[in-house]
Order: sequence, then C-alpha cells, then structure tokens
Amino acid sequence: MKTVLLSVLMLLSGVYASSQTPVYMDESRPLDERVEDALSRMTLKEKVAIIHAQSKFSSPGVPRLGIPELWCTDGPHGVRPEVMWDEWEQAGWTNDSCTAYPALICLSASWDPELSYLYGKSIAEEACFRNKDVLLGPGVNIFRTPLCGRNFEYFGEDPFLTTEMSLPYIKGVQDNGVAVCVKHFALNNNELNRHTSNPVVDDRALHEIYFPAFKAAATRGDAWSFMGGYNLFRGEHASYNPYLMNEVLKGEWNYGGAVISDWGAVHDTPSAVNGGLDMEFGSWTDGLKAGQKNAYDNYWLANNYLVGLQDGTYGEDVLNDKVRRVLKLTMRTAMNRNRPWGEMVSDAHRQSCRQIGAGGIVLLKNDKGLLPVNPAKHRKIAIIGENAIKMMVVGGGSSSLKAKYEITPLEGLKARFGKVADIVYARGYVGDVSGEYNGVTTGQDLTDSRSKEELLAEAVGCAKSADLVIFIGGLNKSPHQDSEDTDRLDYNLPYGQNELIETLYDANPNLVVVNVAGTGVAMPWAKKVPAIVQAWYGGSEAGNAIADVLSGDVNPSGKMPYTLYATLDQCGAHRLGDYPGTKTTDRFGNEMWDIPYKEGIYVGYRFTEKNNLKPTFPFGHGLSYTTFGYGKAVLDKTEMEKDGTLKLTVPVTNTGSVAGKEVVQLYVRDVKSSLDRPVKELKGFSKLEIAPGATAIAEFEITSDMLSFYNPASKSWEAEPGTFELLVGSSSADIRSKAKFTLK
Ligand code: BGC
Repeated sequence: MKTVLLSVLMLLSGVYASSQTPVYMDESRPLDERVEDALSRMTLKEKVAIIHAQSKFSSPGVPRLGIPELWCTDGPHGVRPEVMWDEWEQAGWTNDSCTAYPALICLSASWDPELSYLYGKSIAEEACFRNKDVLLGPGVNIFRTPLCGRNFEYFGEDPFLTTEMSLPYIKGVQDNGVAVCVKHFALNNNELNRHTSNPVVDDRALHEIYFPAFKAAATRGDAWSFMGGYNLFRGEHASYNPYLMNEVLKGEWNYGGAVISDWGAVHDTPSAVNGGLDMEFGSWTDGLKAGQKNAYDNYWLANNYLVGLQDGTYGEDVLNDKVRRVLKLTMRTAMNRNRPWGEMVSDAHRQSCRQIGAGGIVLLKNDKGLLPVNPAKHRKIAIIGENAIKMMVVGGGSSSLKAKYEITPLEGLKARFGKVADIVYARGYVGDVSGEYNGVTTGQDLTDSRSKEELLAEAVGCAKSADLVIFIGGLNKSPHQDSEDTDRLDYNLPYGQNELIETLYDANPNLVVVNVAGTGVAMPWAKKVPAIVQAWYGGSEAGNAIADVLSGDVNPSGKMPYTLYATLDQCGAHRLGDYPGTKTTDRFGNEMWDIPYKEGIYVGYRFTEKNNLKPTFPFGHGLSYTTFGYGKAVLDKTEMEKDGTLKLTVPVTNTGSVAGKEVVQLYVRDVKSSLDRPVKELKGFSKLEIAPGATAIAEFEITSDMLSFYNPASKSWEAEPGTFELLVGSSSADIRSKAKFTLK
C-alpha cells in the first residue's frame, strides 16, 4: 500500500518525466529541477561523499543513483596525462599523449579573441576524448611582478586584456560540454611562499585590477567552476575565504557554479564548511592515523564534516548548497549525453596549435628590415642557443604535459629553411638539462660536458661564418624560471646569456634574438641588437610557429601583454619594496607573509606611465613586416549622456607591401577626476586584417563602464561627468589619434 501511494505521489510531483526516466536524468527538464530531484534522493553520507575527492583528480558521484564520477584535469594548456589513483606519478597509459597548446601568455599576446575561442574549443575536444569533465583553467591572475613563476599560465598585466582574452576560451571549452575551472581566485600573484602569502590590497585595486577577469568569468562567462588560490587574504585562506567566496563571488556576483579548492589548499573543517568552498581536492591525507579504509575519508570535508552534521555542529542547508552546485557541475558535463566524443592530436589540432603559436609571437624590434629571413641574402644561417633545441612542454608544474610530439625551434627552422640555406647550430651555453616532470620525460639527453669557453668559441665561430645569426634563448620551465611553486630569483636572463648575446653581436651584428620565455626579462642589449622576437612556450608546434614568423609565412601581429621593464625597479611591486613581504602569523599561529600591494591600482603600464619610467618595450607593443597608417579617430557625438553610448571609428591603412594584422588599441583617459587615476587605461582593442594598400575601419562603442573607476568610499563604480580623451594607437606608448568628449 505504502509503495503504491509513493509511486502515485512521485508521478503527481513529476519525479518521473516519462515512464522510467527520473527527473534528474531527464535532460529536457530545467537544470535546477533536476538538481533538486537528485538532491532529494541523496543520503547525508552521499552528500558528503560528492563534495570531496576520491582520487587525485576525481570525485565519486552517487553510484546508487547512477550519477557518475566527476573527472578533473589540468589545464590549462592541454590535457594532463593520467596519474595513478592515489599518487602524482604516472599511471603509465600509452594513449594519453595530447596536443600541447601554447602557454596562455602567448594566447593573450595574440590579442585575438577568435584564436582564444579556437584554443578553448580544441582543448575541450581533447578533454572530451579523454573523458574529462572539468578543465583546470584558465588562470586569470594578474602579472604583478615579472618574477612570478606562473605568469606564463596567465594573460598578462592588464585586467581588460585578461578579461577579453579569457572569455572566448571559457566559451570554447564549455560549448563542448567541458567545464572550465577559473583559477586561482584571488590574488595568487607570486609563487614564492604561495601557501602563506597574505596580500594586503586596497579595495580599489581589488576591483579595478585583480577582480575584473574573475568577475567577468563568473557573470558574462558563466564559468561552471572556480578554483580558489593557495594564498591567504585578510588572514583567511583564499579557497574558503568568507569575503572572496561568500561575499564577493557568490554574493555580489551571484555566482551559481561550484568552488573547488586548489589541490591541498584546505586546512580545517569549520573554515572550509563556512567559507564558501564546495569541493575539496588534493588534500594530503594520512588514512592510517584515523584508521579509515579510505584515506580520502580524512579530507576536511569528509568524515569530520559528516560527524559534525550528525551531531548538529553544522546545518544541512550549507551542505545542500554545496551539493547542488556539484550536481549542477556534474549534470552540465559528465551527465551531458550530447557531449561530443572529441578528438586527440587531430590535424585540426596540429593546425590550431601552430596558428595560435604564430599568432602570439611578438616582433619587438626589426631594424633595417633584418627579418623576415631572406634566403637569397641569408645563405648561411647560424642558430645558437639552448632553447633552439630544448623541449619545453615538460616542466613548469601542474601545466606540464605529455605531448604526442614537440617540434623544437631548430627542427622548425630546419624544416623551413634547410633546403634553401645552410643551417649551422651551436649551443653557446649549457643551462638546464632536465627533461622530466612527474615521471614524464622528454626523452632528450641534453648533457654536454664541454667547458664554457669551448661552447663560447664554437658559438662565436659559427656566428662569424654566417650571414645571419638567430640566437634562441630565454628562460625554461625548471624551478626559479617559468615554473609553479617558485619565483625567479633574478630579472636577468640566466646562464650568462646577456654576455653571450653581446659577444655574438660583436662577432656578427646581423643578429636576431628570439626570447623564449613566459614572463619579462631584462634586455640590456636591446638598443644594440637589430632584431628581437618574443616567442613563448609554443607547445607541440613551437618550432613551426617560430619558423612561420621568422620566414614571413605568417606576418607577426602579436602585442606585448605586459610591460617589458628595463629593470625590475620599474615595476611597482619592486620599486616600492614590498616583495616578498613581511613574515608574521595567521590566526592559528602559522607562518604568514603580509605583502602590502603598495602600488595599488598602478600595476604594469599604469605604474611606468604615472612615474615617467621608460621600459624597454611598452605594453601593447609589437611590430609587423608591414606598416600601418592611422587616420583620424572620429566620434559620432561630442557629448555623452549618463548611461549613453558613443561610437568611435578609426580608419587604419596598410601602408606596406604585404598583408598584415594590426591590433588597434583604445585607451581612455579621464582628464580630471576626484580620485587619482592612471594616465590612461586599455578599454578596447580590435584586430584587423588588412591587405596592402587597403583601409579597414576599427569601430568601438564607448559605454560608461569604460569611463568609471571604483570608488572605495561608496563601494561602487562611478563615471564622473567631465572631459574624457580616447587615445587610439598601436601600443600604449604609440598613440596615433585622439578624440575628446564630455560626459554629462
Ligand atoms: C595548482 C593548480 C592545479 C592543481 C592540480 C595545483 O598545485 O596550483 O593550478 O590545477 O595543482 O594539479
């Protein structure tokens, strides 16, 4: 009788959509309804089980209800190879080699939102093929200091560029049924002491510099999950920081997705329960201590939490909120039956990898038109430097990948020029011979027993004998370079490269320096060396992408996503002397490092411009093999109503002889304001492809958001009436046309 009654009730309440499909399984029903249905069927134990890991990268779902496991993967440059269930070491699969995509800093340097979408789509296809549900990326932390070990995984120093270049990536990933996990919210701006850093940041800098990309991901981007940082803020860990997670993300921004901890970022149960964290991953457990069968029961959000729920320490409402978010994430991904199967290392992926790699390369300097390489003149080409032969996909921390293949720069250049020019190679220095991360090896043996003098002599001889010298050096992904968990120790290039570059220049001034790195470095030789190229970690197609640009097959169109400071002292974080902060203790008596962000909103070009400092290359800088002439910037009106809009148009002509792309940049200057404001701020950009002799029009819509600042007194964004200047240019330091208007 009871069963009959229950069935009737279930039918009436719509639990069954059709005869057999329960509501939570029925993809035609609204997501929230499905979530509520699933939640109502779960036991307390099942609820607790679903909000923490069961292995290094997965959570268990609800087996009894057929709700599948949720599988995460790094992220953000490709799909991480399979590790053991309980260990970081390799599982030893032979079918998990991926296409390694260029580092996100390269994507950002393309200033091309279409490439960003393509990147997201491609990497999601690889994730689908590997049956992964949550891709741990993109990272949208701001490049505050060039020493930060993870700048290569982020989008540079500007909040607007970071926002506009990360949103299409997010869409590309999620359009394919894979969730992004936007990381590391918030203020994970250095790796040194990353578990104990406690940035002290004013509200204005938070809202104007460090929050915008996260806010956009949560609101405009509808990112399905977020990852908290390891660091602290206001003395509380970021991954369950009541201010960051509850007040800002889930409160002000009304975020409905799931908050995932960084791996091992959780330290106690009450804080994790109440601080807005929804899922715990990567905690270090010692199952033996508590005598559990499963070490994961010792997670902070596991048995400890369950006991607290049972004895009334914690209420079920907070738990239900977490479970709802995790169910939603699972339904959007693992339970999406329409998710594509995906593909791995397909021709399309090889191509998109190469296209993005070449699209992000920045031509910093090209005196006397030394580039592109001209085989008619450059019959013998000397390629020098370790980064010409070093594989770079392995290393750098959690973004390290097992690539199906990786083309080094020397291989790419040989493939492109080998038949038309004589190519000779000399290493010049021995830097880093490592080629292993977490059990993945490059297979390269880079050991070299020659002395410094022998290496130098060979390189100089090689340079002297050639018509063109291409030095390919920079950083790599070993500790204290571009690598997670450590910051760089020095702004200079390592391994004596500065001296080597000077010596090579003396030997042969037809010198091109290709700097392969993911963050800023000093270039004391920049005035001398005629051609400088900023290449990044290009992933599988790195060498081909470099060859594409050096040959002119692809006309360079990347622009710097950060200021290339001449010295570290030009960077606010260092000039004002607050890096890496002061040692203190948190409320539990644990070590903590207060880092006052004394420069406030003046990060990157905002700082150099305010202080009249001249960097080696400014933010937004990048040349082409053609030239662009800017016409007059014209506004449709000279006055803007409050909350109104204006239209700005700027004609740009390709005045050279080859087709090219120009990133037209729009900066806004508030001529007079009640609060101090940067000289100007990036508020728009448009990448135009223009044939030789042709003119294209860059169009911008001017809205009041672009004019406003965050007023910490009123806790709101304000656009003050008065005069504004719109500065349109080819870089932050190369403004070609201006227009003015008044905001009423
Ligand atoms: C990193 C995250 C990464 C996670 C999982 C952490 O150490 O900070 O970015 O996604 O590990 O590998």
